[in-house]
Amino acid sequence: MDIIDAIKQRRSIKSFDKNHKMTYDEIKQILELAVLSPTSYNIQNWRFVIITEQSIKDKLSELSHGQQQVSEASLIIILCADLNSWNKHPERYWANIPEEPRNALIESLKKSYKDKVQLQRDEAMRSCGMAAQTIMLAAKSMGYDSCPMKGFDYESVGKMINLPNDHLISMMVVVGKKAKNPSPRGGQVPLSELVFTNKF
Ligand SMILES: Cc1cc2nc3c(=O)[nH]c(=O)nc-3n(C[C@H](O)[C@H](O)[C@H](O)COP(=O)(O)O)c2cc1C
Repeated sequence: MDIIDAIKQRRSIKSFDKNHKMTYDEIKQILELAVLSPTSYNIQNWRFVIITEQSIKDKLSELSHGQQQVSEASLIIILCADLNSWNKHPERYWANIPEEPRNALIESLKKSYKDKVQLQRDEAMRSCGMAAQTIMLAAKSMGYDSCPMKGFDYESVGKMINLPNDHLISMMVVVGKKAKNPSPRGGQVPLSELVFTNKF
Protein backbone atom coordinates (compact mmCIF):
# COMPACT_ATOMS: atom_id res chain seq x y z
CA MET A 1 0.00 0.00 0.00
CA ASP A 2 1.16 3.48 -0.92
CA ILE A 3 2.24 5.50 2.15
CA ILE A 4 -0.26 8.28 1.39
CA ASP A 5 -3.11 5.73 1.26
CA ALA A 6 -1.91 4.17 4.52
CA ILE A 7 -1.95 7.58 6.22
CA LYS A 8 -5.41 8.37 4.85
CA GLN A 9 -6.89 4.97 5.67
CA ARG A 10 -5.44 4.51 9.17
CA ARG A 11 -8.16 4.89 11.75
CA SER A 12 -8.44 3.99 15.42
CA ILE A 13 -10.31 0.70 15.33
CA LYS A 14 -12.33 -0.43 18.33
CA SER A 15 -13.41 -3.91 17.24
CA PHE A 16 -11.17 -6.71 15.97
CA ASP A 17 -11.57 -10.35 14.94
CA LYS A 18 -10.69 -12.09 18.19
CA ASN A 19 -9.86 -15.36 16.43
CA HIS A 20 -7.27 -13.92 14.09
CA LYS A 21 -3.68 -14.76 14.92
CA MET A 22 -0.78 -12.83 13.44
CA THR A 23 2.24 -14.87 12.40
CA TYR A 24 5.60 -14.59 14.11
CA ASP A 25 7.03 -13.12 10.88
CA GLU A 26 4.33 -10.45 10.68
CA ILE A 27 4.94 -9.35 14.26
CA LYS A 28 8.68 -9.34 13.66
CA GLN A 29 8.25 -7.24 10.52
CA ILE A 30 6.23 -4.61 12.40
CA LEU A 31 8.88 -4.42 15.14
CA GLU A 32 11.75 -4.29 12.65
CA LEU A 33 10.01 -1.36 10.95
CA ALA A 34 9.25 0.32 14.29
CA VAL A 35 12.93 0.48 15.19
CA LEU A 36 13.69 2.35 11.96
CA SER A 37 11.85 5.31 13.50
CA PRO A 38 14.09 8.26 14.32
CA THR A 39 15.33 9.04 17.84
CA SER A 40 17.35 12.01 19.01
CA TYR A 41 21.09 11.15 18.92
CA ASN A 42 19.93 7.71 17.74
CA ILE A 43 19.51 6.70 21.41
CA GLN A 44 16.77 4.20 20.48
CA ASN A 45 15.22 4.67 23.89
CA TRP A 46 11.99 2.83 23.09
CA ARG A 47 11.33 -0.62 24.55
CA PHE A 48 8.43 -2.73 23.29
CA VAL A 49 6.51 -5.20 25.41
CA ILE A 50 4.48 -7.40 23.08
CA ILE A 51 1.50 -9.45 24.16
CA THR A 52 -0.42 -12.04 22.18
CA GLU A 53 -1.62 -14.36 24.94
CA GLN A 54 -5.40 -14.16 25.42
CA SER A 55 -5.40 -14.30 29.22
CA ILE A 56 -2.97 -11.36 29.42
CA LYS A 57 -4.94 -9.39 26.81
CA ASP A 58 -8.08 -9.93 28.89
CA LYS A 59 -6.33 -8.70 32.02
CA LEU A 60 -5.04 -5.66 30.12
CA SER A 61 -8.54 -4.97 28.83
CA GLU A 62 -9.75 -4.90 32.45
CA LEU A 63 -6.99 -2.43 33.28
CA SER A 64 -8.10 -0.35 30.27
CA HIS A 65 -11.60 0.39 31.58
CA GLY A 66 -12.86 -2.74 29.80
CA GLN A 67 -12.05 -1.41 26.31
CA GLN A 68 -12.83 -4.36 24.06
CA GLN A 69 -10.24 -3.67 21.38
CA VAL A 70 -7.59 -4.68 23.91
CA SER A 71 -8.93 -8.19 24.39
CA GLU A 72 -9.89 -8.61 20.71
CA ALA A 73 -6.70 -7.40 19.01
CA SER A 74 -4.18 -9.98 17.83
CA LEU A 75 -1.21 -8.04 19.14
CA ILE A 76 -0.71 -5.51 21.89
CA ILE A 77 2.44 -3.44 21.94
CA ILE A 78 3.14 -1.50 25.12
CA LEU A 79 5.53 1.24 24.15
CA CYS A 80 7.92 1.95 27.01
CA ALA A 81 11.12 3.93 27.18
CA ASP A 82 14.37 3.57 29.05
CA LEU A 83 15.00 7.00 30.58
CA ASN A 84 18.70 6.20 30.94
CA SER A 85 19.38 4.74 27.51
CA TRP A 86 21.47 7.83 26.73
CA ASN A 87 23.98 6.57 29.32
CA LYS A 88 23.93 2.83 28.59
CA HIS A 89 26.87 2.06 26.28
CA PRO A 90 26.06 4.95 23.93
CA GLU A 91 28.97 3.95 21.66
CA ARG A 92 26.68 1.31 20.14
CA TYR A 93 24.36 4.03 18.80
CA TRP A 94 27.19 5.17 16.55
CA ALA A 95 29.05 1.90 16.06
CA ASN A 96 29.25 2.37 12.28
CA ILE A 97 31.05 5.70 12.17
CA PRO A 98 34.76 6.53 12.74
CA GLU A 99 35.98 6.82 16.34
CA GLU A 100 36.62 10.56 16.39
CA PRO A 101 33.13 11.76 15.40
CA ARG A 102 31.68 8.94 17.52
CA ASN A 103 33.41 10.19 20.65
CA ALA A 104 32.32 13.75 19.91
CA LEU A 105 28.70 12.65 19.56
CA ILE A 106 28.80 10.65 22.78
CA GLU A 107 30.24 13.58 24.69
CA SER A 108 27.58 15.85 23.27
CA LEU A 109 24.70 13.48 24.06
CA LYS A 110 25.87 12.91 27.62
CA LYS A 111 26.10 16.65 28.16
CA SER A 112 22.64 16.99 26.71
CA TYR A 113 20.84 14.44 28.93
CA LYS A 114 22.83 14.18 32.17
CA ASP A 115 20.71 15.33 35.14
CA LYS A 116 17.96 16.59 32.79
CA VAL A 117 15.05 14.57 34.11
CA GLN A 118 12.38 16.50 32.19
CA LEU A 119 14.31 16.19 28.93
CA GLN A 120 14.75 12.45 29.45
CA ARG A 121 10.95 12.14 29.84
CA ASP A 122 10.25 14.39 26.87
CA GLU A 123 12.61 12.31 24.76
CA ALA A 124 10.84 9.13 25.86
CA MET A 125 7.49 10.50 24.72
CA ARG A 126 8.87 11.89 21.46
CA SER A 127 10.54 8.60 20.53
CA CYS A 128 7.55 6.44 21.45
CA GLY A 129 5.19 8.73 19.52
CA MET A 130 7.34 8.31 16.42
CA ALA A 131 7.49 4.55 16.83
CA ALA A 132 3.74 4.30 17.46
CA GLN A 133 2.95 6.03 14.18
CA THR A 134 5.41 3.79 12.33
CA ILE A 135 3.75 0.73 13.87
CA MET A 136 0.27 1.90 12.88
CA LEU A 137 1.25 2.73 9.29
CA ALA A 138 3.21 -0.51 8.92
CA ALA A 139 0.22 -2.46 10.22
CA LYS A 140 -2.10 -0.68 7.78
CA SER A 141 0.15 -1.42 4.83
CA MET A 142 0.25 -5.10 5.87
CA GLY A 143 -3.56 -5.37 5.84
CA TYR A 144 -4.07 -4.80 9.55
CA ASP A 145 -5.61 -2.04 11.63
CA SER A 146 -4.68 -0.53 14.96
CA CYS A 147 -5.64 1.72 17.84
CA PRO A 148 -3.26 3.94 19.82
CA MET A 149 -4.21 4.01 23.49
CA LYS A 150 -3.55 5.83 26.72
CA GLY A 151 -6.80 4.89 28.42
CA PHE A 152 -5.44 2.40 30.93
CA ASP A 153 -4.14 2.23 34.48
CA TYR A 154 -0.46 3.00 33.96
CA GLU A 155 0.58 1.99 37.47
CA SER A 156 -1.11 -1.41 37.39
CA VAL A 157 0.07 -2.15 33.85
CA GLY A 158 3.60 -1.17 34.90
CA LYS A 159 3.43 -3.67 37.76
CA MET A 160 2.02 -6.33 35.46
CA ILE A 161 4.90 -6.03 32.98
CA ASN A 162 7.62 -5.61 35.65
CA LEU A 163 8.46 -2.16 34.36
CA PRO A 164 12.01 -1.34 35.51
CA ASN A 165 12.42 1.70 37.81
CA ASP A 166 14.21 3.78 35.21
CA HIS A 167 11.64 3.10 32.47
CA LEU A 168 8.22 4.58 31.77
CA ILE A 169 5.20 3.56 29.73
CA SER A 170 4.32 6.00 26.98
CA MET A 171 1.31 4.37 25.37
CA MET A 172 -0.09 1.18 23.95
CA VAL A 173 -0.88 0.26 20.33
CA VAL A 174 -3.19 -2.64 19.57
CA VAL A 175 -3.10 -4.30 16.16
CA GLY A 176 -5.45 -6.76 14.54
CA LYS A 177 -7.94 -7.63 11.80
CA LYS A 178 -10.71 -5.06 11.78
CA ALA A 179 -14.14 -6.48 12.63
CA LYS A 180 -16.14 -3.26 12.46
CA ASN A 181 -15.62 -0.08 10.47
CA PRO A 182 -15.04 3.06 12.54
CA SER A 183 -17.51 5.93 12.63
CA PRO A 184 -16.73 8.73 10.19
CA ARG A 185 -13.83 10.93 11.31
CA GLY A 186 -14.79 13.11 14.26
CA GLY A 187 -14.06 16.35 12.45
CA GLN A 188 -10.79 17.87 11.33
CA VAL A 189 -9.84 21.39 12.37
CA PRO A 190 -9.02 23.34 9.18
CA LEU A 191 -5.37 23.93 8.32
CA SER A 192 -6.08 27.67 8.47
CA GLU A 193 -6.47 27.35 12.28
CA LEU A 194 -3.47 25.08 12.75
CA VAL A 195 -0.74 26.40 10.50
CA PHE A 196 1.17 29.64 10.93
CA THR A 197 3.71 31.03 8.51
CA ASN A 198 7.00 32.00 10.12
CA LYS A 199 5.44 32.89 13.50
CA PHE A 200 2.18 32.84 15.48
C1 LIG B 1 -2.11 9.15 22.57
C2 LIG B 1 -3.44 8.61 22.15
C3 LIG B 1 -4.21 7.91 23.07
C4 LIG B 1 -5.43 7.37 22.70
N1 LIG B 1 -6.13 6.60 23.60
C5 LIG B 1 -7.24 5.97 23.19
C6 LIG B 1 -7.89 5.08 24.05
O1 LIG B 1 -7.49 4.82 25.18
N2 LIG B 1 -9.02 4.48 23.60
C7 LIG B 1 -9.51 4.70 22.35
O2 LIG B 1 -10.53 4.11 21.99
N3 LIG B 1 -8.89 5.53 21.49
C8 LIG B 1 -7.77 6.16 21.88
N4 LIG B 1 -7.11 7.01 21.02
C9 LIG B 1 -7.64 7.19 19.66
C10 LIG B 1 -8.18 8.59 19.41
O3 LIG B 1 -9.44 8.72 20.01
C11 LIG B 1 -8.24 8.79 17.88
O4 LIG B 1 -6.93 8.75 17.38
C12 LIG B 1 -8.89 10.10 17.48
O5 LIG B 1 -10.23 10.12 17.86
C13 LIG B 1 -8.80 10.30 15.97
O6 LIG B 1 -9.38 9.19 15.29
P1 LIG B 1 -8.58 8.35 14.23
O7 LIG B 1 -7.37 7.80 14.89
O8 LIG B 1 -9.53 7.27 13.77
O9 LIG B 1 -8.19 9.26 13.10
C14 LIG B 1 -5.91 7.55 21.37
C15 LIG B 1 -5.12 8.28 20.46
C16 LIG B 1 -3.90 8.78 20.84
C17 LIG B 1 -3.06 9.48 19.81
